[in-house]
Amino acid sequence: MHVLIINGSPRVKKYSNTNAILEKFTEGLCENGTTFEQYEISDKNSWDQIRQSYDRNTIILVALPLYVESIPGLLIEFLETLTPKSDGSKMVFLLQGGFMEGVQLRCGEACLKIIADKLGCEYMGTLVKGDNFCIRFFEGEWRENITGAYADMGREFAAHGNFNSKACKKFTGPETIPFFVRIHVGHILNTQAKTGFEQMAAVLDCNKPLDYKPY
Ligand SMILES: Cc1cc2nc3c(=O)[nH]c(=O)nc-3n(C[C@H](O)[C@H](O)[C@H](O)COP(=O)(O)O)c2cc1C
Repeated sequence: MHVLIINGSPRVKKYSNTNAILEKFTEGLCENGTTFEQYEISDKNSWDQIRQSYDRNTIILVALPLYVESIPGLLIEFLETLTPKSDGSKMVFLLQGGFMEGVQLRCGEACLKIIADKLGCEYMGTLVKGDNFCIRFFEGEWRENITGAYADMGREFAAHGNFNSKACKKFTGPETIPFFVRIHVGHILNTQAKTGFEQMAAVLDCNKPLDYKPY
């Protein structure tokens, strides 16, 4: 099996959490002979090349971050330039986000199914997982702790050619976090995290309060 992988993050490859996830995912994917080619939509100069690869390949995996509870605008802009297919191509998605709860990625997931249909591809599922904010701030073992399990999902995909297995569904983790945890996290955000954000803003010469609402 050969897979075209498109990193749909607007963030450049070097800083993209999606790319760090794909590094682990493809480790597992390739263990038994599956091959892949990968492109980044953040590099607009490569869009022609990605389109050619999309026309050539029949197994297409789009990996993307959730931005403002939806699909990044740059990725939508790119997908709109693709010509719908009629060669039996299959499309899968790896959707990841910063916040932990699976539920907030479900709207994006539904949208991805529609996109696969509109591109004339058979929809083969979406691997959904949040809690990935910190990947790019960590290296080595700490990063491995977050991204490592994606290698198993690469193996799952190589074995089944979709993201519909029980293991993939379980991979999402909790749909919602318990009420008391939400209260606790809310408290941290309003105290320690707020102070941290204010310090970061000051370093960036921001002279307006963080809750400033000019409009
Ligand atoms: C503009 C922007 C909007 C975001 N919106 C969400 C969101 O609605 N929900 C969420 O869980 N994470 C959100 N995130 C966090 C990203 O999904 C997360 O950090 C992801 O791992 C980034 O991947 P990337 O570095 O490949 O772009 C947002 C990040 C940015 C920059």
